[in-house]
Amino acid sequence: GTEPSPPAPANGVHTASRAAIPARHLRTDRWWLAPAGTAAGLFAFIVYSTWRAFANADYYHAPYVSPFYSPCLAENCRTMRGGPNWELFGSWWGLSPALLILIFPLGFRLTCYYYRKAYYRGFWASPPACAVAEPHKKYTGETRFPLILQNIHRYFFYFAVLVAGVLTYDTALTFRDEHYAWGHMGLGTLVFLANIVLIWAYTLSCHSCRHIVGGRLRHFSKHPVRYRLWGWVGKLNERHMLLAWSSLISVAVADFYVFLLASGAIVDPRFF
Ligand code: FES
Repeated sequence: GTEPSPPAPANGVHTASRAAIPARHLRTDRWWLAPAGTAAGLFAFIVYSTWRAFANADYYHAPYVSPFYSPCLAENCRTMRGGPNWELFGSWWGLSPALLILIFPLGFRLTCYYYRKAYYRGFWASPPACAVAEPHKKYTGETRFPLILQNIHRYFFYFAVLVAGVLTYDTALTFRDEHYAWGHMGLGTLVFLANIVLIWAYTLSCHSCRHIVGGRLRHFSKHPVRYRLWGWVGKLNERHMLLAWSSLISVAVADFYVFLLASGAIVDPRFF
């Protein structure tokens, strides 16, 4: 006779409700490519942004301020006249001023629905890909501490809007020259414009934004304005992953451009 199989665990990937196949999964394509690429991309950004956030140098070159350091909230800021530089933190703050502000965009992205999917797959293999069972014994989703804290995403959204507002102001300031005279443009202005468009597109394509704009309505017909806005946000929302990546890259490029200028590696080509 056959041995009775051990009782299926109540939780995890080998539960009774799963098909009893010996193979770990039946996918034959290179399913690991997407999570591996995602992990590599996120890791590269983490390394780059950690270096830049702790550098506490080369983040300002008139009229450009790195998006990693804006708004600059400490007395030790080396930013511009008339720029977003509010000295809420006095001389006792000796660390990089980026550390005071990056928590907001970082928290927004860490709790973002797309990035959650990206790093759950890329770093935790939970699950690694569609129809590929995860290696973990237990799965409780986001129903327990600490992952239940992902729910604060909607509040990070409001901070992200504020930060995007400040970066919009920074972008407006790039229409000045190094003597703060208005009506000028350089290559950096274009870099900043591209970045702010992508930052806004990513922020407004947020799932929480979509719910804030069009959620909890019984009748769209009674809320034509919100219905229309919801439609627009929905169109952006379809591209949320693309916008998450392109704005992540553009913010790093804008920061790197300021770094190159401030460290003297390049000179900003001026158009007028
Ligand atoms: Fe991605 Fe809100 S869901 S930013």
